[in-house]
Amino acid sequence: MKKTFVTLTLIAMGTAALSHGGVQDKNVMARMEVMKTIGSQMKLIGKMAKGETAFDAAAVNAALTEIAAQAALVPDSFETPATDPKSEALPLIWEQFDDFTKLAGDLESTAANLAGTVQTDADLGPVMGQMGATCKACHSTYRE
Ligand code: HEC
Repeated sequence: MKKTFVTLTLIAMGTAALSHGGVQDKNVMARMEVMKTIGSQMKLIGKMAKGETAFDAAAVNAALTEIAAQAALVPDSFETPATDPKSEALPLIWEQFDDFTKLAGDLESTAANLAGTVQTDADLGPVMGQMGATCKACHSTYRE
């Protein structure tokens, strides 16, 4: 049992390292992991919205709660103006850090407000729309 857990943990760590292969800076790696987690939760909701996976209200609400929790980590994880050749973060982040953290706050509150409201698959479109707008608001200014 314990051995299985360790093996799975190692596989999980290996996958994370692989997907960000070549990232040297640990601050950059950490903030990419936060974004990657947010991205995978959005993908889960998006697949249901497209009908690729079965609708599961509890899973969507849990994903939104997880996004809110990860969004709360954004200000601290981006605080250090670290760079890496693989990073897509623009230097403007640290010139306008107040605005950047405000956009992270918008993501957090949008996700937190939507969490628990999803009841039918008809809710998925509006959820994707509202959530996607918060991603875009930040990426369009602060990401390459
Ligand atoms: C407050 C700003 C901000 C918000 C809001 C935001 N992002 Fe990001 N995101 C970034 C920045 C900056 C990067 C680039 C980080 C880097 O490469 O160092 C990034 C990178 C990413 C990446 C690539 C991570 C990787 O593996 O390198 C994904 C995926 C992502 N964001 C998904 C999302 C999704 C989905 C949302 C909305 C639900 C979102 N982000 C909201 C700022 C934001």
